Amino acid sequence: MTVSRSLPHDAAPLHVTGQARYVDDIPVPAGCLHLAFGLSTIARGRILSMDLDPVRAAPGVVAVLTAGDLPFANDVSPSVHDEPLLADGRVNYVGQPVFLVVAESHLAARRAARLGRIDYDEEEPILTVEQALAANSRFEDGPVVWEKGDAEAAIAAALRVIEGRVEIGGQEHFYLEGQAALALPQEGGDMMIHSSTQHPTEVQHKVAEALGVPMNAVRVETRRMGGGFGGKESQGNALAVACAVAACVTGQPCKMRYDRDDDMIITGKRHDFRIDYRAGVDAEGRILGVAFTHYARCGWAQDLSLPVADRAMLHADNAYCLPAVRIESHRLRTNTQSATAFRGFGGPQGMVGIERVMDHVAHELGMDPVELRRRNYYAEAAKGGAAPRPAASPRGISDQKEAGGGNTTPYGMEVEDFELGAMTEALLERCDYVARRAAVRAWNARGGAIRKGIAFSPVKFGISFTLTHLNQAGALVHVYQDGSVHLNHGGTEMGQGLFQKVAQVAASRFGIGLEAVKITATDTGKVPNTSATAASSGSDLNGMAVKAACDTIRDRIAAHLAQRFQADAAEVRFEGGRVHVGAESVSFAEAARMAYEGRVSLSATGFYRTPKLAWDRLRGRGRPFYYFAYGCAVTEVAVDARSGEYRILRADILHDAGASLNPAIDIGQVEGGYVQGAGWLTTEELVWDNRGRLMTHAPSTYKIPACSDRPDVFNVALWDGRNREETIYRSKAVGEPPFMLGISAWLALSDAVASFGDVYPALDAPATPERVWAAIRRVRNGV
Ligand code: MTE
Ligand code: MOS
Repeated sequence: MTVSRSLPHDAAPLHVTGQARYVDDIPVPAGCLHLAFGLSTIARGRILSMDLDPVRAAPGVVAVLTAGDLPFANDVSPSVHDEPLLADGRVNYVGQPVFLVVAESHLAARRAARLGRIDYDEEEPILTVEQALAANSRFEDGPVVWEKGDAEAAIAAALRVIEGRVEIGGQEHFYLEGQAALALPQEGGDMMIHSSTQHPTEVQHKVAEALGVPMNAVRVETRRMGGGFGGKESQGNALAVACAVAACVTGQPCKMRYDRDDDMIITGKRHDFRIDYRAGVDAEGRILGVAFTHYARCGWAQDLSLPVADRAMLHADNAYCLPAVRIESHRLRTNTQSATAFRGFGGPQGMVGIERVMDHVAHELGMDPVELRRRNYYAEAAKGGAAPRPAASPRGISDQKEAGGGNTTPYGMEVEDFELGAMTEALLERCDYVARRAAVRAWNARGGAIRKGIAFSPVKFGISFTLTHLNQAGALVHVYQDGSVHLNHGGTEMGQGLFQKVAQVAASRFGIGLEAVKITATDTGKVPNTSATAASSGSDLNGMAVKAACDTIRDRIAAHLAQRFQADAAEVRFEGGRVHVGAESVSFAEAARMAYEGRVSLSATGFYRTPKLAWDRLRGRGRPFYYFAYGCAVTEVAVDARSGEYRILRADILHDAGASLNPAIDIGQVEGGYVQGAGWLTTEELVWDNRGRLMTHAPSTYKIPACSDRPDVFNVALWDGRNREETIYRSKAVGEPPFMLGISAWLALSDAVASFGDVYPALDAPATPERVWAAIRRVRNGV
């Protein structure tokens, strides 16, 4: 079987030799035109007048379009039709597309786009959490509140109450390949789109609306993205729709790609959050009650903000069984880019909230932070079984948990697959945590400017789209008469290795080698009504759909051969490139030819929907997730008190990918996720000025981790487990969960800073060197 083998990414040779074709590499037909947006230069106001004559007169310009020129829908929103492609009378952030330039070259379009003269009636922008609250500027009537037990009463009755606030910055996706689209007009008004998107069906949908045609007149193809990270779930719509409309108006092919600065200025990012917390604890560090208030800065349009903010609430518990909890979530509308999906989809922000509480409580009680966490863990599931074992604890933790409502999350879902107890133990052992923590303490006790910090953090991440109907997928598989296989499904490839993993599933079902399986581009004409490749569920959903399609064909071949060889169809086996029928065996290619000649269909669709889901988002109750993915990390850092600069010396990770479909690819996901997560909480800082202009819109001012910023020692291992639920070959989703392991890097910085005095450092994120430096000063001064 090819599943569970560490095979390289199918396109790795193409990636490293530059042959991998991205949208911008597709050879375009003669007469292809290029597009650029003219952008708003103010954050909020009304457009009084526009003088676009200089744009029209610029060299190479073919057409200039404004909202009034659009033939049908002026909307690129993935949710509530509140996001015009081109500003319609009002502008809502600096960088909002106002007009569209169509020109003979990319450069001509970009140059001309700068020449528009727009007069505004400028209004005071709403930029910060305070301003949004003062203006009651939000996406729902009021905050969303979910509760388990009576948190206020539990906090009031607790021995100690710890409270505070943490500011958590946003994050730019920084996919290597920027947003891009290409529209090729077809006969009869049909449109073919190539798009760098995680969601081809949505691009198809939005293009159809914009052209006033049914979805069957639009075909969208996505071979690959050079990274998406959630930034291409909805943010590619604008380019695809612009290209389609311009192609429709001019009758010529149209292409658009954002320059890096424009990409950063125009598109949405991770939501920044403020989280206020109050926690009541007993003398042993058990959390008795917690109250969180989440403030999410959502930007100007709704986009995916409500489910992102929901997922933050759904991860406010992380790995801890909280007897009583209240979570209040404010979704604030601000005059900034419309914040969007980003790896973890709000989960990371929610998790930072509770990890901060753990860090703060451990500091106040003077307890080992790992021990504190373990005391508050959910009860461990019985090994191999499905039912949770009540924690057999001499301290009676299990009784405590019973009183607080069993092993249930704040949203009432039973945690049946918890394995972090065993994983934590294994990781601490492997990385020699106890001795290293003592060594860090000893090092710091010597004083001096260079201090060290070490920290542990766990991850429990819910797998499934919380919008239940999205948990479905389709596949289309053909076996040709020579035994070669054409594989297609609704998932998109963004570097995460989905295509390879799913091809391994197909090869395994047919018992053939991977070389016989052709991986093909995602295409709305082959598999319809797909969900975005998101929520880490790409391989869970599409793997199962492909399995279903392959098994249909396999059963047909088996029935045909059984009849031919007068054997029992149930005993036909597909193995080692051959089909075994009783004592006989033929090659898979021969079996395909025989089935073809026997007039047996060798093409099938497959479909899958995730079972067991039942979620009521308004009440915040039910089972939003099929299962949880787990992981844990220990990070050690060194900090220089003179500058606040730091390095990650070492990171050790144990991550649960179930029975991995491809351990090499999964370890790559864990490494990349950790580094991206650590980047978010350390050096990646978004800065807007007081007029709402994004000041950090290039790598010169926005610092993502470079190769040299990876941990000097980086040990990543997969937990040897099987999914308790019946997922594809018992694997687990791995795309997003490891991102949150990066929280341990931020906590390690907090630990290092704490060595300078007695007060809690209360580091905000990102903990840039400036912030670390300032925190050291505060701690030294005891404030
Ligand atoms: N890995 C790479 N190399 N590039 C990406 O863009 N996106 C992440 C994750 N890993 C991403 C990635 C995000 S946000 C998600 S939701 C998952 O991959 C999506 O793919 P999957 O569902 O197949 O895991
Ligand atoms: Mo990932 S944020 O679900 O695209």
